[in-house]
Amino acid sequence: MRLSHHLALLGTALACLATPVQAAEKAEVLHWWTSGSESAAVNEFKKAFNAAGGEWTDAAVAGGGGETARAVGINRIIGGNPTTAMQFNTSQQFYELIDKGLLQTLDDVAAKDNWAKVINPVIYSAVSKNGHVYAAPVNIHSNVWLWFSPAALKKAGVEAPKTWDDLFKDLDALKKAGIIPLAQSGDAWTQNLTFMNVLIGAGGPELYLKIFKDRDVNAIKSPEFKKVADILAKMRDYLDEGMQGRQWNQAISLVITGQAGFNFMGDWAKGEVVVAGKVPGTDVGCIPGLGKSSYWIGGDVFVFPKQKDAGALKAQELLAHVLLSPETQVAFNNKKGSAPVRADVDTSTMDACGKQGVALLGSGAFVPGSDMLVNPDVAGQLNDLAGTFFSDKSKTAADFVDGLAKIVSSQ
Ligand code: GAL
Repeated sequence: MRLSHHLALLGTALACLATPVQAAEKAEVLHWWTSGSESAAVNEFKKAFNAAGGEWTDAAVAGGGGETARAVGINRIIGGNPTTAMQFNTSQQFYELIDKGLLQTLDDVAAKDNWAKVINPVIYSAVSKNGHVYAAPVNIHSNVWLWFSPAALKKAGVEAPKTWDDLFKDLDALKKAGIIPLAQSGDAWTQNLTFMNVLIGAGGPELYLKIFKDRDVNAIKSPEFKKVADILAKMRDYLDEGMQGRQWNQAISLVITGQAGFNFMGDWAKGEVVVAGKVPGTDVGCIPGLGKSSYWIGGDVFVFPKQKDAGALKAQELLAHVLLSPETQVAFNNKKGSAPVRADVDTSTMDACGKQGVALLGSGAFVPGSDMLVNPDVAGQLNDLAGTFFSDKSKTAADFVDGLAKIVSSQ
């Protein structure tokens, strides 16, 4: 080969080296989404981030409800080895990290992407503090849903309930037919969620707000709340031996397969219905608050711990931008079972259950989730109260009333 050709080849080679290949924006992301639908959903985030020039390293920590994952993530922050991003609930769970100055503000990306305008106002206020935005909210989940198996109800010769009396008639019929009446998970956070369903459905959103927003202990001592405690106590007559050790996704799976009649669970359960190839609203029925229909606004956010490497901020801002982009919001939420956190995305493709939830949100029939109204310590005490009540049947309705009054008055 002539020298000139060698030089030409060398020039090309050097030119390739000279044009810097855009370095991927690396992000290690900690979350607790490991069930079938949760991992399918979070994969939509991973795909979108990588397509946008990111490099997503998954740091999944199993455990429904996220208690373990949050402890691992917080320990890594305190240990000086934070992940690039980590999941919390839309709640006060990350407020202490804000107060300690450990979280990156997201004001620039929030302003650029107009979050204040497009994000649901209840959610937007939950991620903003002292005039700054500290988290990227990614969905709206309601904890207040009753799921049921039309096939199991048919086998027991009963219809879907419209009232709590109907529900107990159905539960009796299922029991008589040898079908698990109520698929309850053994985890305390899910038993607190069953309590919230009874409180909002039977007691009503006003009673819920009097207790958790106004911290009115007299509301807990009221005849209305006694009715709630009595219903919750009676619910324990329909628990099966399999409850202990049962995870939330195993509970909803019993309803999906017709082995159980009912399950109180947030609408992440709907993700499991979808991933099982079933149709929400047809194969599995959904009631957003038996009795008094309401949407309990909760969900998930990602926070971005401050990093030693200033370059990480670019990856964090790119990830925050991608999580909230309209197309990613639709792709993720359709698999997650939640509603998009943006009001400006097309929800016409949502299933019948999702549409019920969005309608409640739109009509104002919603309440802020309890995790937004109480600090994580109180939230933990509520889980313990419900957990003890479900595992120890010697605890009476009056004990539950006293226990809740003690927690609420201690705040
Ligand atoms: C909730 C979370 C949902 C779902 C559920 C079960 O706290 O908001 O996204 O993951 O836990 O793990």
